[in-house]
Amino acid sequence: MKQKSRLYLATQNKHKVDEIKDLLGDLFDIHTVYELGLSEEIPETGNTLQENSKQKAEYIAERYQVTCLADDSGLEVNALGGQPGVYSARYAGESKDDMANMSKLIQALQGISDRSARFVTVLTLHHAGQFQSFEGEVIGDILTAPRGENGFGYDPIFQPKGFNRTFAEMSMDEKNQLAHRARAIQKFKSYVEQTGFFGNN
Ligand code: IMP
Repeated sequence: MKQKSRLYLATQNKHKVDEIKDLLGDLFDIHTVYELGLSEEIPETGNTLQENSKQKAEYIAERYQVTCLADDSGLEVNALGGQPGVYSARYAGESKDDMANMSKLIQALQGISDRSARFVTVLTLHHAGQFQSFEGEVIGDILTAPRGENGFGYDPIFQPKGFNRTFAEMSMDEKNQLAHRARAIQKFKSYVEQTGFFGNN
């Protein structure tokens, strides 16, 4: 049996690691940045998801000379002109507090009838000095109060279109059938299959 290629995830978010492992673990030998001895926070100072995703991938790949996949994601709310977007993690402050972020968003949408939003993920593969990005999105609505215990971030107030449950009321498997990160991963998988990318190394 062919040995699986080693892939490092350039993220320090345990929930993202779990979701990506669930989606890619059968194809790749997945490792985290903690196994590389990284203790500081991976910088993300860009103004777009694309910039941050590339920055995270470059930081890990160049520091440790490994093939890595970075994830930058955000929630774009239409009535707020796409906010919090790239600032989703720090929407209510530097502490990156999920409850505070959700409260601030619910407050910002009070009295507004358009509750539509989309989650977006930009994955960036960095391999042998080259970059390739993959984007995934899912549309839905922001609820007026949190529901459910699973997932992370804004999951308890995001209800994907066509469903009557939030992401936090779904199992990880269910969320991974339709969510933004899973869709970006599907594109990454297709790219790997079509190009034979890792087969050449
Ligand atoms: P970053 O990609 O680490 O900069 O942070 C993205 C932020 O967007 C997270 O801290 C969450 O608040 C939010 N986010 C991204 N993906 C998801 C998701 O799948 N569910 C819920 N919130 C998410």
